[in-house]
Amino acid sequence: MAEQELYRKYARYYDLIYQWMDYHGESEFILMVVNRYKKSEGMNLLDVACGTGGHAQYLQKYFKILGLDINPEMLNIARKKLPKMEFVQGDMKKIELKKDFDVIICLFSAINYHTTLNELKNTFQRFYKHLKSGGVFIFDLGFCTENWEEGRMLVDAVVEGDLQLARISQSRLLDGVFNANFVFLVKEDGKMDFDIDQHHIGVFPTMKVRNILEKIGFRNYIYSGFSDILWDEKSGERPVFVCIKPL
Ligand SMILES: C[S@@+](CC[C@H](N)C(=O)[O-])C[C@H]1O[C@@H](n2cnc3c(N)ncnc32)[C@H](O)[C@@H]1O
Repeated sequence: MAEQELYRKYARYYDLIYQWMDYHGESEFILMVVNRYKKSEGMNLLDVACGTGGHAQYLQKYFKILGLDINPEMLNIARKKLPKMEFVQGDMKKIELKKDFDVIICLFSAINYHTTLNELKNTFQRFYKHLKSGGVFIFDLGFCTENWEEGRMLVDAVVEGDLQLARISQSRLLDGVFNANFVFLVKEDGKMDFDIDQHHIGVFPTMKVRNILEKIGFRNYIYSGFSDILWDEKSGERPVFVCIKPL
């Protein structure tokens, strides 16, 4: 098994595993904060780490979207679901598109694929360069030190027709990094398969992330779990950052 396979073998199960995700509700939140804060004129949106296009399917009627992801299998699924949308394979850590955008989104913990604050700062600087003045960058910090529960077991199970799938992992933090070994058990066409999908996930203190964004030049607000309430570290909710590049 290669290091950091990142869904490659399991991309085709991604939408099944995450069928509980409220992509519609999160997209409504994005529209709300874009209407509230965006001062640039256009509606060009860059969906970084777009995965299978969960948000884009709802946002495409409002924005002209470019989806970027590192994983070709995820992109293939997104292309089939959203044939009119433009996608590009790429690494957000090296992003260098010859274009700037009114809105950049990076959702469902995708920003946690950075493992150090320095790495995160470099990517934020790249995003800043790719934003127009008055543009808005939105991301959620799905893994943060405030909400971390050491030793917690995460179990997802799906049964659909002939397919039975279980995915299990345990939260263990080492030097601020969650080396997540997602154990997959899949039974399909009567055959059992077993593998481990390895992800390196950075778990950051929310205020340190905020400080980095401020130093780069973003004005930012932290919302609580895609609701119109500002985040509070005792809430247990996911911090959702709305970052504005000043005019
Ligand atoms: C949890 S999924 C989120 C996908 C999508 N945003 C969603 O909401 O369903 C994380 C995505 O990040 C992508 N990814 C991880 N590291 C990346 C990188 N360095 N550059 C671009 N995409 C990356 C993975 O391929 C995967 O599609």
